[in-house]
Amino acid sequence: MRSIIDILDLSVEELDELIATACDIIDHPAKYAEACHGKKLATLFFEPSTRTRLSFEAAMYELGGNVIGFSSANSSSAAKGESVADTAKTISCYADIIAMRHPKEGAPRIAAQAATIPVINAGDGGHNHPTQTLADLLTIWREKGRFENLTVGLCGDLKFGRTVHSLITAMSRYAGVKFVLISPEELKVPSYVKEEALKKKGIPYVQTTSLEDAIGDLDILYMTRVQRERFFNEEDYLRLKDSYILDPKKLKRAKSDLVIMHPLPRVNEISVAVDDDPRACYFKQVLNGKYMRMALILKLLEEAKYEH
Ligand code: NCD
Repeated sequence: MRSIIDILDLSVEELDELIATACDIIDHPAKYAEACHGKKLATLFFEPSTRTRLSFEAAMYELGGNVIGFSSANSSSAAKGESVADTAKTISCYADIIAMRHPKEGAPRIAAQAATIPVINAGDGGHNHPTQTLADLLTIWREKGRFENLTVGLCGDLKFGRTVHSLITAMSRYAGVKFVLISPEELKVPSYVKEEALKKKGIPYVQTTSLEDAIGDLDILYMTRVQRERFFNEEDYLRLKDSYILDPKKLKRAKSDLVIMHPLPRVNEISVAVDDDPRACYFKQVLNGKYMRMALILKLLEEAKYEH
């Protein structure tokens, strides 16, 4: 049974296929309105979420399917001490596919090993978030028309930001991509991500603390929130939380066709004055996330048909 736990669980060809399906859904939504009739998605969210959970749910409804699930650990048997594996086995009796978010790195993989239905990682701790990357890739594709030869800047909490880790891993598979990693010293990209996705493949990257110095070179600027819930102490969070604030003044130095992205939720990293700039794509990203989740659910349920 195939699960999607890491963005590398999908080949570049499969990403192309998902993008093609998402674009077809955008153009012909009626064609897909009953595609998952009679199927159930279970959303098992042990951590807070607005976009990821609701976009999975909206995706399944727009495919004609149904949704069950819970939105906090407190309202599930995890509060009684049930293991992730037992929860996954149980839900396999009720649903056809699972989307799981969990504060512990690796929990969705444990769930996938125990489940008899596909499991999609909807974010595991500070580790990975492959379906946000699907949203990000469709956004880059629709805005730029290519993945190759782009200078991608990632800015903010690159240590705990799981969306950053998955996006670097995904983009490192395309030719001519360069990364500019902009963060405070304490919040640099973890060395395991740099090692696997960048160093081993000889992908060019620079690390800097200055957004102002880097912004003029970028084709994509991916802003991120400082991940308060992953900090060990509040003092460090308060010191680092406003390290970068993108505002119209900083954008004066940027390219006219820069694509500004953010996985959201935003706290202070992008001033609301930027929202009306035509380069701001973060709300388009939200919508793209729903279409890519529709494409992914369709693909995994189609594959699962042939495994039973
Ligand atoms: C992100 C996440 O949960 O990692 N949000 C999302 O899914 N769109 C980013 C974040 O919480 O900062």
